[in-house]
Amino acid sequence: MKPHVICHTLISLDGRIHPSRWTESPDGDRKVWSSAYEKLHETLAGDAWLVGRVTMAEMSKAEAHPPAGPFAVARPHHFARRDADTYAIAFDRGGKLHFAKPDIGGDHVVVLLGPGVPDSHLAELANDGVSYVVATDEAMDARPLLDVLGSELGIERLLLEGGGNVNGSMMAAGVVDELSILVAPAIDGALGITGVFEVPDARGLVGKARLRLTSSETLEHGLVHLRYAVEPG
Ligand SMILES: NC(=O)c1ccc[n+]([C@@H]2O[C@H](COP(=O)([O-])OP(=O)(O)OC[C@H]3O[C@@H](n4cnc5c(N)ncnc54)[C@H](OP(=O)(O)O)[C@@H]3O)[C@@H](O)[C@H]2O)c1
Repeated sequence: MKPHVICHTLISLDGRIHPSRWTESPDGDRKVWSSAYEKLHETLAGDAWLVGRVTMAEMSKAEAHPPAGPFAVARPHHFARRDADTYAIAFDRGGKLHFAKPDIGGDHVVVLLGPGVPDSHLAELANDGVSYVVATDEAMDARPLLDVLGSELGIERLLLEGGGNVNGSMMAAGVVDELSILVAPAIDGALGITGVFEVPDARGLVGKARLRLTSSETLEHGLVHLRYAVEPG
């Protein structure tokens, strides 16, 4: 069964997601906002978090290091661990991500790959102790992939944590149940910068979702935490 998906994100007043570009906090360093975001991450108590390929590349900067062939690899999935307290999951259609270790901050890595990913890359991940799921369809439909994470790893509560492209694609796929939006008192303002929900379809999310406010809380450092239930459009 699909885990309950909560999109947890830190945004500026104009819906942008790169804090280093924002106007600064009157309380000093912008890190006060990121720290509050991390604290809420713990409070939300997911047993997994999911990010896009670009965001995971900021956390894992290893180079390609495929083992020598021939390769005997498992498809459609390989789980190096099934007993982790928390899983760190990333979409990586083409196998561009590489890992020096099988965890990010102690959370076991699981990569969601496209069907065209070569065996050499699967062998590299398995050698590194990293788990993976290979999608059976080119579109990488999110729902069956989430179902596998639920049924195989017992993931029940998943935090979707950006960036804007993965947030938008998961909203468009109708798999997000809740939003947890931490709004910082800051403006980005630049043109052409990624927003919190990037959806390739020109009509965006019209007709796909309705948001019901479930709580709002003012926090220190001018932050406002908004939570919404996502209902079908
Ligand atoms: N403020 C915050 O809370 C927050 C949180 C996280 C990240 N960020 C920032 O966001 C920025 C990155 O955002 P981004 O939108 O450029 O990138 P992203 O969402 O991290 O990654 C986008 C890539 O992930 C893959 N992907 C996403 N959705 C997919 C799907 N449904 N199926 C298959 N593949 C999928 C695609 O990879 P391929 O191109 O390989 O197909 C896509 O190009 C970073 O600078 C990061 O610091 C901010």
